[in-house]
Amino acid sequence: MSDAFSGIPAPRFPYVRQRRLRATPTLRRMVRETHLRTDDLIYPLFIAEGRGVRKPVSSMPEVFQLSVDEAVKEALEVTALGIPAIDLFGVPKEKDLAGKHALDPDGLIQKAIRAIKDACPELVVMTDVCLCEWLSHGHCGLVEGERILNDETLPVLAEIAVSHANAGADMISPSDMMDGRVAAIRQALDLAGHPDLPIMAYSAKYASGFYGPFREAAQGAPTFGDRATYQMDPANGREGVREAVLDAAEAADIVMVKPALAYLDVIWRVRQETTLPVAAYNVSGEYSMIWAAANNGWAELERVMVEVLTGIKRAGADLILTYFAKRMARLLNRGLERN
Ligand code: PBG
Repeated sequence: MSDAFSGIPAPRFPYVRQRRLRATPTLRRMVRETHLRTDDLIYPLFIAEGRGVRKPVSSMPEVFQLSVDEAVKEALEVTALGIPAIDLFGVPKEKDLAGKHALDPDGLIQKAIRAIKDACPELVVMTDVCLCEWLSHGHCGLVEGERILNDETLPVLAEIAVSHANAGADMISPSDMMDGRVAAIRQALDLAGHPDLPIMAYSAKYASGFYGPFREAAQGAPTFGDRATYQMDPANGREGVREAVLDAAEAADIVMVKPALAYLDVIWRVRQETTLPVAAYNVSGEYSMIWAAANNGWAELERVMVEVLTGIKRAGADLILTYFAKRMARLLNRGLERN
């Protein structure tokens, strides 16, 4: 701080004290830059066959596979908490090589959409559009031998999207990572009379080890190979931006980065490159990791939860898909934003 030319002596104390505004909780609240809101949250739900089914996912505490009737109860609770949206994933009993059950107008997801919209008309019901849950080999596209087919998969995805739209879905959320699927789905929705239905695209979706617990929850682990020929290489940041820009050009309404925590830079870069809303998926492994640490006494669950979700928002996400949505909403509703 001393200025050798003016002869003014170096101050005995720092004049600039960053700690002044950290002195009390009220001051900290006043200068806090990032605020989570219940409106930021999207809650993923796993829909299973049967009635009265509420089956815990062992690797994901507080997460269940729910039959449609139980999912309705969950949707009512989510609505009461002020969470604006859910995203539905199917856990069908029967899978095949064509994804035929995904297209059934009376299928699992279609039934769930109708029942939930009946009970909670204002809740935004998004649906995951992907083939991995419906195909016996667990890949996100149709296959020939061990090759994952791109162009042949597109019309099937588009048909699934239309069938969800016909059942009353409010937003379509393709997570397959086939090239050109946003445009294919957009065109199909428009032609089927759903031009106003938005698409939230999993744009920068990485081939990640953090999806492990989800694959138990949704029973969609591939039976051969991996997803590296369609999901992105975790080393690539620019490519993530390119995916988001491309999806925007294909008329995606919201772009998503997934997972969130190892990709905060990608969220940031996508935020800079597009004016669309940006979503981030705080995925299953990120959720389970925190729970595992908390259950071992190595982390305070809710403190770390708030820190992680705040970090994802600070990185530029407008919306966060998270299995913590209900817990976070309860905390927010009690006025407890801890930091
Ligand atoms: C399926 C899909 C996956 C997730 C969302 N949609 C799994 C995968 O790609 O293997 C992961 C979600 C999570 O881990 O929470 N296309």
